[in-house]
Amino acid sequence: MKNAGREAPIADASQALEEQAGQASKTTAPVGRRSRRRFLKRALWTAAAVGAGLGAYSALEASWLRVVKETIETPRVAAPFVGMRIAFLTDLHHGPFTGIEYIERVVARTNALAPDLILLGGDYIHRGPQFIYPCANALGKLKAPLGVYAVLGNHDHWHGGRLTSACLEGNGIVELKNRGVWLRKGGARLRLGGVDDLWTARQDLGAALGDATDDDACLLLSHNPDTVESIDDQRVSLVLSGHTHGGQVVLPVVGAPIVPSQYGQKYLRGLVETEATKVYVSRGLGTVTPPLRFCCPPEINLITLAGAVGPDRAGAKG
Ligand SMILES: [Fe+2]
Repeated sequence: MKNAGREAPIADASQALEEQAGQASKTTAPVGRRSRRRFLKRALWTAAAVGAGLGAYSALEASWLRVVKETIETPRVAAPFVGMRIAFLTDLHHGPFTGIEYIERVVARTNALAPDLILLGGDYIHRGPQFIYPCANALGKLKAPLGVYAVLGNHDHWHGGRLTSACLEGNGIVELKNRGVWLRKGGARLRLGGVDDLWTARQDLGAALGDATDDDACLLLSHNPDTVESIDDQRVSLVLSGHTHGGQVVLPVVGAPIVPSQYGQKYLRGLVETEATKVYVSRGLGTVTPPLRFCCPPEINLITLAGAVGPDRAGAKG
């Protein structure tokens, strides 16, 4: 009886502990699951909010038009053309994502720069030939004393190359489809040539350069900068290109995940020198799908020609 009397409280205590443990396991497991669910829910909402914020920012950045000024040493450029200011506009992509108001803003901003010459690098439309009429009409308001010249891009050929050519010409814009012209100033001349699109058409560099000699400075318009990889003609002083859009979306550290070039990031943007020549690649003005820009704002390029330093520098040529 004595022993039984001592064991009873021990048994009660152990039973109480088991009950407590049982209750604890019943209550802590659901609390753990609930807090994990809460954490996941918060993480998903945070990710969605960050994604929406970045998307909204990228859509805004796509309309943050800016002017990028560059002075480029141009081999053999004659003295009267040194200091010539060229406005270069490319990849406008008027369409569902890039409205005509934006194109008109680009035109007004370019005219306000009062350039000597305006060059257009192709890809005027996106997702349909109906966009070429209003786009060409807007571009027809561009004004420069030495004229407005253009080449076509792959999107123009995909949606109607002939229609694009006709609309540009109808608005006073001269297309340089595998041909060139002589610009004349102060008794000197400068060759301005253009080649058709690398992906969708035939290119003829010889026809673009025409009768230019080794003493002439030659500017070449080519929508796609990959063209320069096949240029071994030393007469080409400088190529102006677009097409890569600067990558359009450029991630910190990683760079641009999508670049429509066989040469990766080489022709992403800016001045690139090759063995035979140099090419200036613009980030362009519009967007293709997705209609976003991130760390890659749209740009009007205002290029000033500088005389080349060294033996390439040439005097005036009639
Ligand atoms: Fe483009």
